[in-house]
Amino acid sequence: MRTKTLNVPSALLCFFFLSCHHLLRHAQAQVPSTVGYTCSATANRTAYPCQTYALYRALSPDFLDLAAVGDLFQVSRLMISNPSNISSPTAPLVAGQPLFVPLSCSCNSPNSSISISYANISFTIKSGDTFYQVSTHNFQNLTTYQSVELVNPNLEATNLTIGVTAYFPIFCKCPNRTQFGNGTNYLISYVFQPSDNISTVASFFGVQAKAITDLNGNNIQPFDTIFVPVARLPVLSQPTVVPSAAPSGKTERKGVIRGLAIGLGITGLVLIFVVGFLIYRDGLLKKKIDGKGDEENKVLYRSKQGSERRKEMEVGLMADVSDCLDKYKVFGIEELREATDGFRESSLIEGSVYKGSINGDLYAIKKMKWNAYEELKILQKVNHGNLVKLEGFCIDSEDDCCYLIYEYVENGSLYSLLHENKNEKLSWKTRLQVAIDVANGLQYIHEHTRPRVVHKDIKSSNILLDSNMRAKIANFGLAKSGCNAITMHIVGTQGYIAPEYLADGVVSTKMDVFSFGVVLLELISGKEAIDEDGNVLWTSAGRILEGNEEEKARKLREWVDNELFLESCSIESILNVVTVAIACLHKDPSKRPTMVDIVYALSKSDDLFFDISDNGSSAPPVRAR
Ligand SMILES: *[C@@H]1O[C@H](CO)[C@@H](O)[C@H](O)[C@H]1NC(C)=O
Ligand SMILES: *[C@@H]1O[C@H](CO)[C@@H](O)[C@H](O)[C@H]1NC(C)=O
Ligand SMILES: *[C@@H]1O[C@H](CO)[C@@H](O)[C@H](O)[C@H]1NC(C)=O
Ligand SMILES: *[C@@H]1O[C@H](CO)[C@@H](O)[C@H](O)[C@H]1NC(C)=O
Ligand SMILES: *[C@@H]1O[C@H](CO)[C@@H](O)[C@H](O)[C@H]1NC(C)=O
Ligand SMILES: *[C@@H]1O[C@H](CO)[C@@H](O)[C@H](O)[C@H]1NC(C)=O
Ligand SMILES: *[C@@H]1O[C@H](CO)[C@@H](O)[C@H](O)[C@H]1NC(C)=O
Ligand SMILES: *[C@@H]1O[C@H](CO)[C@@H](O)[C@H](O)[C@H]1NC(C)=O
Ligand SMILES: *[C@@H]1O[C@H](CO)[C@@H](O)[C@H](O)[C@H]1NC(C)=O
Repeated sequence: MRTKTLNVPSALLCFFFLSCHHLLRHAQAQVPSTVGYTCSATANRTAYPCQTYALYRALSPDFLDLAAVGDLFQVSRLMISNPSNISSPTAPLVAGQPLFVPLSCSCNSPNSSISISYANISFTIKSGDTFYQVSTHNFQNLTTYQSVELVNPNLEATNLTIGVTAYFPIFCKCPNRTQFGNGTNYLISYVFQPSDNISTVASFFGVQAKAITDLNGNNIQPFDTIFVPVARLPVLSQPTVVPSAAPSGKTERKGVIRGLAIGLGITGLVLIFVVGFLIYRDGLLKKKIDGKGDEENKVLYRSKQGSERRKEMEVGLMADVSDCLDKYKVFGIEELREATDGFRESSLIEGSVYKGSINGDLYAIKKMKWNAYEELKILQKVNHGNLVKLEGFCIDSEDDCCYLIYEYVENGSLYSLLHENKNEKLSWKTRLQVAIDVANGLQYIHEHTRPRVVHKDIKSSNILLDSNMRAKIANFGLAKSGCNAITMHIVGTQGYIAPEYLADGVVSTKMDVFSFGVVLLELISGKEAIDEDGNVLWTSAGRILEGNEEEKARKLREWVDNELFLESCSIESILNVVTVAIACLHKDPSKRPTMVDIVYALSKSDDLFFDISDNGSSAPPVRAR
């Protein structure tokens, strides 16, 4: 919407120049390539990445329920059922039933000579799978085996090992500014069927046939992926489920859930879950209604206690619990006791997080009171290499608590590596990589989740480093879905909290940007966000870039971690990161950059670093200036 107002003039301009219009049409008629659709990540960065949709059809026999389709595309059932006009996410599907599957579309360069746009979906090869079979059957020609080969250069297409992970590039496109300006908010990926013609596709999506040919050309072949420009998703009319099939499916589910509840011996627990799910459904409701405050809806919802409401809630609860059960392992409390030596002190990592070994695999096990639901709900929606992965959960009814079980991240927190482990110093290259990893993780939760997720507690102790020193964001305990909400209850960590949040309780993605700026300062200076005397690091940062070149250089030398002077790393690279950090710390949240801008700016720092190191010894050490 923001872009709409910006670009009306340019669209109008084009409208008046016939030749320009003509050119446009030619450029738009892009020939589908077997490897994918080329894109430009740098030409206008705002276009990529984006959230888009693909039209997928329920397919017999493997893809006849939302759980199977959701697993394939790594999204939850609700993320498909909501845009697809399906009221009961657990009901079976009818073969051929249309679904809108959400995709995170980005512009990627699988090799240095080509940039193509796709959603990167991981897929574990099972017996009998080939790139061709999975592309044409499972993904229904939303990609091609040629493209899969391009994206997986390390895999031998004719000799796939069972259990290996391949990445399937699902074709997608993001509208550029011109298209946004013309009212196109999504370019839906659609596989042209043999029974289709342009007019039937156009009327299915409620658009003009010309809009489709302008974008995809006139020579559309069956099984080509085409892009349909729409302002909003059309409402799919879903087949009414055969009456006899629906109840049986439902009772079965009910049985499973009830069985589980009894199995865990926690009938009372259901009540707690109900409250948790109430909050969850509030979030969804909020999205559906409008931007009203979270708190308001909560109150509204709780005050209505009619039996109808309760029934509705029960149905929702079923769907949502089963959503979690699909994705996560449910651990037994005995298993966890054994893994952690009875929660001995020696297994404690920090706070209430224990290290445990289950069947030879290491896990981090976090003990919680009944506040795990928020985190579970958020982690369920996200899947990114720079976010700590949740593996499962456990409910201990006797002790009235529950546990979240995460992947174990070997090298511990950035905080301890920077400030506690004085012997082992992090190189500038590693620090830069950490910054870029965290920025990517945050970009993902800010841009690719609907509603957006705000972490709210970004700090060096919530950033973990794996065995390759790649960073992962942990601890989504305070994270919040939704944006621009106001909270009364201020949470977070001193030294990292954005001033507007402290003052007014305004929650926005820009508060994470602020905290990220503080983490950058820690990486540059090696100092803690708040020192023993209570001095807050960020308050002194603004002054570094004041004054003339000489003063700047002097102040920078005072600031930068002495360890970095011992390395021959580029001062331009450091200066660039300082500039990013200071932009993040702007008092006015609207003036802070977005994580998309930050990822871009930090990659530039990375280039500066590598440019220098390529020249080897000719690189001037920091000290030289
Ligand atoms: C937007 O995309 C259309 C079609 O691909 C292209 O013709 C046009 O030049 C693009 N506009 C901008 C501003 O990139
Ligand atoms: C990207 O979009 C901005 C804002 O409309 C525009 O000023 C700029 O020229 C565009 N860049 C390119 C390379 O098209
Ligand atoms: C796809 O995603 C995985 C992890 O999420 C990443 O390791 C891989 O590099 C990505 N591949 C491409 C080509 O984007
Ligand atoms: C990159 O991929 C394209 C398309 O498959 C191919 O033509 C080209 O040779 C590749 N380039 C390199 C450097 O591998
Ligand atoms: C995908 O395309 C191939 C031909 O390229 C076709 O045989 C196959 O049926 C298509 N798959 C689906 C699910 O339509
Ligand atoms: C297939 O892959 C396996 C394991 O990756 C390897 O041991 C085997 O030699 C390969 N076979 C061929 C014919 O390349
Ligand atoms: C903009 O949209 C209108 C109507 O939706 C269409 O007629 C026109 O061709 C579009 N212009 C461009 C440049 O795509
Ligand atoms: C498209 O198909 C429909 C029905 O299948 C038919 O009525 C219509 O004439 C076709 N249109 C074109 C342009 O072929
Ligand atoms: C959703 O699907 C149902 C069943 O086909 C249909 O009756 C209903 O009209 C659809 N919803 C909307 C808003 O069109």
